[in-house]
Amino acid sequence: MALSDRLNLVNPSEIRKLFDLAQGVEGLISLGIGEPDFDTPEHIKEYAKEALDKGMTHYSPNAGLMMLREAVSKKLKEQNCIDADPKNEIMILTGANQAFLMGLSTFLRDGEEVLIPGPMFVSYGPAVVLAGGKPVEVPTYENNEFRLSVDELEKYVTEKTRALIINTPNNPTGAVLTKGDLEEIADFAVEHDLIIFSDEVYEHFVYDGIKNHSIASLNGMFERTITVNGFSKTFAMTGWRLGFVAAPSWIIEKMTRFQMYNSTCPVTFVQYAAAKALEDERSWKAVEKMRREYDRRRELVWKRLNEMGLPTLKPKGAFYIFPRIRDTGLTDHEFSELMLKEAKVAVVPGSAFGKAGEGYIRISYATAYEELKEAMDRMEKVLMEKGLV
Ligand SMILES: Cc1ncc(COP(=O)(O)O)c(C=O)c1O
Repeated sequence: MALSDRLNLVNPSEIRKLFDLAQGVEGLISLGIGEPDFDTPEHIKEYAKEALDKGMTHYSPNAGLMMLREAVSKKLKEQNCIDADPKNEIMILTGANQAFLMGLSTFLRDGEEVLIPGPMFVSYGPAVVLAGGKPVEVPTYENNEFRLSVDELEKYVTEKTRALIINTPNNPTGAVLTKGDLEEIADFAVEHDLIIFSDEVYEHFVYDGIKNHSIASLNGMFERTITVNGFSKTFAMTGWRLGFVAAPSWIIEKMTRFQMYNSTCPVTFVQYAAAKALEDERSWKAVEKMRREYDRRRELVWKRLNEMGLPTLKPKGAFYIFPRIRDTGLTDHEFSELMLKEAKVAVVPGSAFGKAGEGYIRISYATAYEELKEAMDRMEKVLMEKGLV
């Protein structure tokens, strides 16, 4: 039988492979997973039950329930200084992850290039490939806090470049772009006439009193930006599968067409619960509570990693930390395998996030404080016993 080879162009994520290896390891502590360990706040679950009781069990409009688009519009205005019309500049998706393939499909032509700062979230490259384009990794460096610089972008831009994906706060490095960085990136995008994807799913998890900024709020940038966000991380709702985008109407119109012939619409009662959640003070209190707990864990892990001899930057956002393990003499794959086998701790090799991640590992601190402590003890013990630090 003749088979399509389109999906052969993209490989299963390295993180999945790690999970397969980790299956059946007794007493394993997983620091590999990229999702909140918190449960969805109770009142949001109540809203979903209320929606079911109201009979919200039918299709919604393809672009999402108007009440949710209106709540998202209000949120974007108040929190992100973005003016987006709920009628034609906002769309609800089945998770933020969908935004990339759907968004790229609205404008990318075969062979066109998309700049992606590395280390990068695992979905970006495959989304570009599946949309017929070519992903181009633009490295970021530890000595610049893994922040994207325009000097680096200039080295990789070509006649064929159509778009740039930015992600702040960043998965996997925890880097947060400053307003100054965003202004420079905006000028670069205008100069080269690029469309920007701005992935802001970790926007609420920032530390040390800093704020995350949205590039679409800068003068004239809304017209060329697809702002991507969702409910997975903010309200600990990964399994509910709900995200949203704000973008110029011509992009939203085409993305809606894509959704029409794909998922039709996100789950209707989930959309209702999210709309109510956005406007309920209790949700934002829950976010702040999670943020504080992540911060406490960040301090612990950062301190312990440096103390055990792994040089590690203090991340400014998200719930990941990205220690340098190169100096142990092991590759990031060897290091992760050693930790899995000897310490029974799962960490992700940095190269799973692109070439710029080689020589690093990603640790997620969306794991209980006591478990993190135990994981740090175990890792330190193995490193000492093997004489690697
Ligand atoms: C940077 C980044 N963007 C998007 C997503 C996907 O989010 P969602 O669950 O809304 O699809 C993730 C999930 O890990 C992520 O880390």
